[in-house]
Amino acid sequence: MTTNPNVILEVKNLNVEFTTDDGIVHAVNNVSYKVERGKTLAIVGESGSGKSVSSLAVMGLLTGSNSKITGEVFFNGKELVGSDPEEVRKLRGDEMAMIFQDPLSALHPYYTIGDQLIEAVLVHNKVKDSEARARAAEMLIKVGIPSVEQRMDEYPHQLSGGMRQRVMIAMALINGPELLIADEPTTALDVTVQAQILDLLRELQKEFGTAIVLITHDLGVVADLADEVLVMYGGSAVEHAPVREIFYSPQMPYTWGLLASIPQISAKKEQLDPIPGSPPSLLNLPKGCVFAPRCTFKDQVSDDACANKFPDLLAVSPDHEARCHLTESQRTAIRSERKIGKV
Ligand SMILES: Nc1ncnc2c1ncn2[C@@H]1O[C@H](COP(=O)(O)OP(=O)(O)O)[C@@H](O)[C@H]1O
Ligand SMILES: [Mg+2]
Repeated sequence: MTTNPNVILEVKNLNVEFTTDDGIVHAVNNVSYKVERGKTLAIVGESGSGKSVSSLAVMGLLTGSNSKITGEVFFNGKELVGSDPEEVRKLRGDEMAMIFQDPLSALHPYYTIGDQLIEAVLVHNKVKDSEARARAAEMLIKVGIPSVEQRMDEYPHQLSGGMRQRVMIAMALINGPELLIADEPTTALDVTVQAQILDLLRELQKEFGTAIVLITHDLGVVADLADEVLVMYGGSAVEHAPVREIFYSPQMPYTWGLLASIPQISAKKEQLDPIPGSPPSLLNLPKGCVFAPRCTFKDQVSDDACANKFPDLLAVSPDHEARCHLTESQRTAIRSERKIGKV
């Protein structure tokens, strides 16, 4: 049980495995985090690092018979992994909601925008149709849809990608959830629309006090929105800290690489290179540190530790933890030499 009443979501030692013809996919390995009411946690990492799978597990959306979930997920103090799936389904769309990269996959092609929003209200509330319709229209106005009455009668394919994403946000927030998981909500959109959608999420969060888990492969989008950042690599959490610490005092070489791949930052810091190589196969994780095969600093660690032991997630400061065998002074020297963060 979580004891802090400000914590809306607490994930403890979450593991997700998939049994496949090729073997067991270790998609999420011992991931833990907390999200406070009204705050934003960004989960950041390259494609295939287990970000979506961990969030689907939290939402009770991994129902395939080939998946195995262990660990605990406390939502408002209630444990969900061991709960009746029907109870978790009732929470979804009501107290917690999720939006995805591709709104077309989440919106029904054969129903109008208005009908889908009205249905979302009616499923969770005993109200008259007219009241549900009024709430749908009000929500569409809030997410910045022009000519609402006309739009309500249109089908998803009649809207632009940005407008569809706004509709999905309206649908997710229409019942005032306490938690919103946004999985790469802007990845499919062009840069200008991306910024608008992120601004919208920030405004709505302020208005409704919704806690957000923002999933992204792009550390660049989290600076303005996140309070905390969890960096995932190869299915594991490798660094976890308040957002300013991630930018000013990153401790894990993988995080350094992610920072280097933000265009505005790397332009000023030519000495940084994007991360060479590709992420590990989750069918066959390395024996030592998951990042060791790509880490350019492992030779500075004695006894081949990086190849042999996965470093623990250790506290660097009271609210900052990271996995790395480099000593603190080695990391400081590297950051100072390469101008990573503020040293
Ligand atoms: N249903 C499934 N069966 C088998 N493997 C899966 C399934 N869903 C996801 N995976 C695997 O889990 C890993 C993590 O995927 P995902 O969480 O989608 O990554 P991310 O969101 O970080 O890009 C990937 O290797 C993916 O192929
Ligand atoms: Mg994903």
